[in-house]
Amino acid sequence: MVRLPSRADLAERNRMRKDIESILLSENEIREKVTEIGERISVDFEGKDPIFVGVLKGCFIFMADLMRNVTIPCSMDFMAVSSYQGTSSTGAVKINKDLSEDIQGRHIILVEDILDSGVTLNYLKQYLMVRQPASIHVATLLDKPARRKANIYADYSCFNVPDAFVVGYGLDYNERYRNLPYIGILKPEVYS
Ligand code: IMP
Ligand code: MG
Repeated sequence: MVRLPSRADLAERNRMRKDIESILLSENEIREKVTEIGERISVDFEGKDPIFVGVLKGCFIFMADLMRNVTIPCSMDFMAVSSYQGTSSTGAVKINKDLSEDIQGRHIILVEDILDSGVTLNYLKQYLMVRQPASIHVATLLDKPARRKANIYADYSCFNVPDAFVVGYGLDYNERYRNLPYIGILKPEVYS
């Protein structure tokens, strides 16, 4: 009988693995923490019918896993912004896709992959504030406080990460590596 490869075999065989210096956060660690954050949000927003606004594309895996651990009625929407080319921020934020839902009077939870300089989220928060939502909170998978430029913090953060370029679980380098199931530090020679 043909034996299907185990998850560990697949991880080892993954051709992207050679570009990863080290695994910072394993699938298990991520799963546990995302579950906990989903449960906390469910308690904090009970009866508030929040709307989760995912910031594409980096949020897509985190958002999908987070939402399955949110146990209260809620809705979701997405925005797409670009602010980054390669590994350094351009400082400029461009809205590529706006919301389709009306957010006036609604409780917004912005869902991000990583809070780095904070420029993107700061811009988005101000941009959405004009539409008079009831509140705006921020849920991020990763927080890189060492690089913060804007005065912004996450209300819900799964992990603090060191000042290294990380990929996987939705995060990319030039659109690659988003499909790695863990968060890894990218080898500097890949981008230098
Ligand atoms: P910020 O505006 O500097 O906070 O950057 C936000 C965006 O930059 C994130 O949503 C990511 O797409 C990207 N980014 C920042 N740091 C990293 C990283 O270490 N790996 C991958 N993408 C990153
Ligand atoms: Mg990106």
